[in-house]
Amino acid sequence: MAYSVRFVNPQEHYRRLKPEIDAAIIGCLTRGDLVYRGELRAFESHLAEFVGTRYAVGVKSGYHALHFALLAAGIGLGDEVITVAHTFVASVSAIVHCGATPVLVDIGADYNMDPAKVEAAMTPRTRAIMVVHLNGRMCDMAAIGAIAGRHGLLLVEDAAQALGATFDGRRAGSFGIGCFSFYPFKILGGFGDGGAVTTSDARIAQAISRIRFNGEDRETGEYHFHGYSALLDNVQAAVLDVKLAHVPAWIAHRRAIAQLYHERLTDIPGLRLPPIDGPRQTDVFQNYVVRTTERDQLREHLKTLGVETLVHWARPMWAHPALGLADPGLSDTARLCREVISLPMSAETTEADVAATADAIRAWFLSPVSVA
Ligand SMILES: Cc1ncc(COP(=O)(O)O)c(C=O)c1O
Repeated sequence: MAYSVRFVNPQEHYRRLKPEIDAAIIGCLTRGDLVYRGELRAFESHLAEFVGTRYAVGVKSGYHALHFALLAAGIGLGDEVITVAHTFVASVSAIVHCGATPVLVDIGADYNMDPAKVEAAMTPRTRAIMVVHLNGRMCDMAAIGAIAGRHGLLLVEDAAQALGATFDGRRAGSFGIGCFSFYPFKILGGFGDGGAVTTSDARIAQAISRIRFNGEDRETGEYHFHGYSALLDNVQAAVLDVKLAHVPAWIAHRRAIAQLYHERLTDIPGLRLPPIDGPRQTDVFQNYVVRTTERDQLREHLKTLGVETLVHWARPMWAHPALGLADPGLSDTARLCREVISLPMSAETTEADVAATADAIRAWFLSPVSVA
């Protein structure tokens, strides 16, 4: 159906950037710079500078970033990695595809990993903690970093939704091995799949640059192991480099939109709003997620009024039997899956979009209509 308020607006996104984007793409095509050229290196260097690490390594997707981060750190068969079930499936798949076992822990009030649950989930096989900074909000990195340090565990950050978010002034992806996604609708999105790993560890950066290139060292031609064809395309890197310069303004816009939602939705009984910022976090609002026990009915109501929403995610990961994950009995995660709804949010979301969405939500809570 045609929505009057869309969740995202890729056509408008492109329209605003067209001259810069077209020049970047045409430049690469005209010169024939398609694979592992200057645009990739420039983007990697700007991304590392933005995140606050020594290195950034461009790969095919956020999934590949996670998988390669674990592989480069030596995670493999028999190892356990502690993570959350309230995430995109790729976080967990990356662990499984290394031959390791995901150990799922519950979330706290911020919808992110609850640090209080981590130590109870450890066993002698625990090798790493993979935090997921969901919706643009960072996990409590002071508490989780201290746990990782105390137990000598690797720290991997799934920062796919958190480029530019901070904890104590430090950006996501600079605490552990940082993994980013440039899926088109992320804060920094390409025109297809893309991802990157950030790190200040030269050995990790070197290993990932080889893994993404079938194990080959590009300088010597030596194959160091069996790797993957998973390099970030040069044209995609050229586009991302243009867009990276806009990210601070886009984050400011997302935060302003979140503030507007807050003001317009603030006193509705039965609707829980996300906090804006934590005591030590600055959010970038990849998603603006509200909660209600009548989520599915509200969603239908918004749809009939032309407002597009999404649910991230409706079923806990272990409730997909084909994934073969044991039910860890995480009650907060299960409840969240029944209640969350993501409202329209992007760099192109307008005040009018927020007004229309908020009015429709108010109308529902003030006089709910039954939806078949
Ligand atoms: C939290 C999280 N982790 C991992 C990923 C995987 O990224 P990609 O889609 O680029 O493989 C995503 C993207 O949707 C995500 O939101």
